[in-house]
Amino acid sequence: MKLGNLQLSSNLVLAPMSGITDYPFRRLAKGMGCGLVFTEMVSAEGWLRKGESFLKIEKDQYPVSVQLFGVDPDILAEVAQMAEGMGAGAIDINLGCPAKQVVKTGAGADLMRFPERVKEILVKVRRKVDVPLTIKIRSGWDNEHINAIEISRIAEDCGVDAITIHPRTRVQGFRGRADWNLIGEVKRAVNIPVIGNGDVTTPPLAKKMLEETGCDGVMIGRGALGNPWIFRYKNSEHWGREPATPPSLEERENMIHHHFLLTQAFYGEKGTVKEIRKHVYWYTKGLSCCGSFHSKLSGLREKEALFEAIHSYFDFVQRRNQCQSFESMETRSVTG
Ligand SMILES: Cc1cc2nc3c(=O)[nH]c(=O)nc-3n(C[C@H](O)[C@H](O)[C@H](O)COP(=O)(O)O)c2cc1C
Repeated sequence: MKLGNLQLSSNLVLAPMSGITDYPFRRLAKGMGCGLVFTEMVSAEGWLRKGESFLKIEKDQYPVSVQLFGVDPDILAEVAQMAEGMGAGAIDINLGCPAKQVVKTGAGADLMRFPERVKEILVKVRRKVDVPLTIKIRSGWDNEHINAIEISRIAEDCGVDAITIHPRTRVQGFRGRADWNLIGEVKRAVNIPVIGNGDVTTPPLAKKMLEETGCDGVMIGRGALGNPWIFRYKNSEHWGREPATPPSLEERENMIHHHFLLTQAFYGEKGTVKEIRKHVYWYTKGLSCCGSFHSKLSGLREKEALFEAIHSYFDFVQRRNQCQSFESMETRSVTG
C-alpha cells in the first residue's frame, strides 16, 4: 500500500490507541514488521499550550503517523506542520473518537456531523504539510446519520492520501460488530487507499477483511494488545495462515522483558512498573489460571516483585503444560 509517495513495507498497520501506542509499543510493533504505526491521538490545542516534549519520533519506527485531534482548522494546520518538522512520516486527523470529553469540544466523531468544517480543516492542513495526510473516521454519528461516504469523498477532494474507516457509529462506541460492508462501500466510492479497521484479531481475519471489502490495508487495535506477533506476516499472501504455533511461553516472557526495558528507557525508572502491568496482563491473557495471576498483578509495585511473580507464573504454566501433554500421551497409549 502506498500513502501518497510513501510506500509501506506491509499493509498491516497499528491503530492509534490512547494510553497504549506510546514509543515502546510502537517500536515493538514496528520491529515485528508492522507497515505503519500511529501515535495515540494528540490534542492540537494541548500541543500548542504545553509543547511537544512528550512526543518522540525516531527513525527506527519510520514511518510514524502522528494523529491529531482538535476543532480549529488553523491550530490543526499549524500543529500538523510542527509534527512534520519533528519527523512525522504522515499526519492523521481524528474524526472518529467517541469519548465524551473529546466530542463535547466538537472534535473527534463530532466533526463528522459538520462536513463543511471537515473540509475547512483538511484544506488548511493539506496546504501546510507535504507528508501524506490521512483521516480516521467512523460510520457516522448514529444509525440515522451514516455519512462515511460523504466525508470520504470530501477528504479525497481535499487531497487526503488515505482513509481509515472503523465502521461503527459514535453512538455505538465499541458495541456490536463492525459493519465491514461499509468498508467496501467507502472503498468503491473513492480512488485513494482505504484502510479497514474493526474486530481483526488474527492474520486470517485480516485476509478475510481484505477479500470481503477490497480495502487496501488493515488496521489492528485491540488484537495487538499483548500480541505484537500479529504483525509478523508482512505479506498479505501469508495472512491466511494462522501461525503454526502461537508464541511460546519463552517468547512471551522475553517479550515482557524487552517491553519493560523499552518502557524504562523511555519513561525512566519511576512509573515503569505501573505502566507495564497492563501489558503483562495482555501478554498472559488466556494462559492457564491467568485469573489468579492477574488479581495479584495490580498489587505489585516494585520491579523485583513483579519479575519474580512473572517468572514463577510462567514456570507454573510450563509445568502445567508439560503435565497436560504427559497426561494426554498416557490417555492415547491406554485408548490406542
Ligand atoms: C484503549 C483504546 C484507545 C483508543 N485510542 C484511539 C485514539 O487515540 N485514536 C483513534 O483514532 N482511535 C482510538 N481507538 C480506536 C482504535 O484505533 C480502533 O479504531 C478500534 O479499537 C477498533 O479496532 P480494533 O477492533 O482492531 O480494536 C482506541 C481504542 C482503544 C481500545
